Amino acid sequence: MINNIDTAAVEKKGYLDIEVPSTTNLVEEIKKLRKEKNAVILAHYYQEAEIQDVADYIGDSLGLSQKAAETDADLIVFAGVHFMAETAKILNPNKKVVLPDFNAGCSLAESCPPSEFEKFVKQHPDHVVVTYINCSAGIKALSDLVCTSSNAKKIIDSIPADKPIIFAPDKNLGKYLIKETGRDMLLWDGSCIVHEAFSIDKLLELHKEHPDAKIIAHPESETHILKTAAYVGSTSGIINFAKQDDAQKYIVATEAGILHEMQKEVPNKILIPAPSHEDNTCACSECGFMKMNTLQKLYLCMKYETPEINIDEELRLRSLQPIERMLELSK
Ligand code: 13P
Ligand code: SF4
Repeated sequence: MINNIDTAAVEKKGYLDIEVPSTTNLVEEIKKLRKEKNAVILAHYYQEAEIQDVADYIGDSLGLSQKAAETDADLIVFAGVHFMAETAKILNPNKKVVLPDFNAGCSLAESCPPSEFEKFVKQHPDHVVVTYINCSAGIKALSDLVCTSSNAKKIIDSIPADKPIIFAPDKNLGKYLIKETGRDMLLWDGSCIVHEAFSIDKLLELHKEHPDAKIIAHPESETHILKTAAYVGSTSGIINFAKQDDAQKYIVATEAGILHEMQKEVPNKILIPAPSHEDNTCACSECGFMKMNTLQKLYLCMKYETPEINIDEELRLRSLQPIERMLELSK
């Protein structure tokens, strides 16, 4: 028990399961806690709209890592998934990093267990190992370079042309990068369940209904989706493209949470989520991991400063190197 909190229960559940009086104004309480604790709230574009609205910074994976690297806050509240909060902790060993729900994982990170990846890397000792940031610290520690979707091309281009490359864990991003960079890379067989859920047939049908719309897509999507896109980029890249481009309508092939901030940035444009195979209520693709975080869990993790990310120091130091190389190359 710490602060009357059953830490074993938090560990078991992955989040604080405490009742909050219905009269509590969560947004106001979060704002108070932020001030009292000198906290910073970093949120990804795929978070619930109400979480994005209370955040200090909303961004893509690169932007969030850069913010985490430069913050002078004492408490980093990470409204995103586990690998993102873990990256913040790797960069800030002396700060407390909390995540509203520890169960917020990622199918890409899960697809690549360190023990299996280590065997794969050892089978190809002459290869430079580049990993997408959507992986665990154990995988980063086995890597030469980390990248995100917004700097991946630059990172690959920085590797001497005669060096063979392993790229993990996203095979769809990997295939896209092979095409973009002309480099032949060995790919790990991982994928994002959210971006693989887009239906090409429904997308083409929707495009027929809206021939004036441009398709814009995240590179975690499959090749047949990317082939239809007028622009391919990270979440920030997609928003910036819509801001600078002169079209009035877009079909957006990434997780639907992006539409909240994107619509604020382009209030007069029409944004249509790309359709998924499933006939769900939003007719879009949502990340169940990202959506595990709620405003109430955010408030509770700030109040009680748990669940907290902790990392073994030796592992931290090994995973820090490829992240620092990435940040250096992204300046
Ligand atoms: P970016 O925001 O870096 O484009 O990443 C998308 C994503 O799927 C994060 O999990
Ligand atoms: Fe992982 Fe895909 Fe969810 Fe991003 S959207 S956290 S890549 S499962």
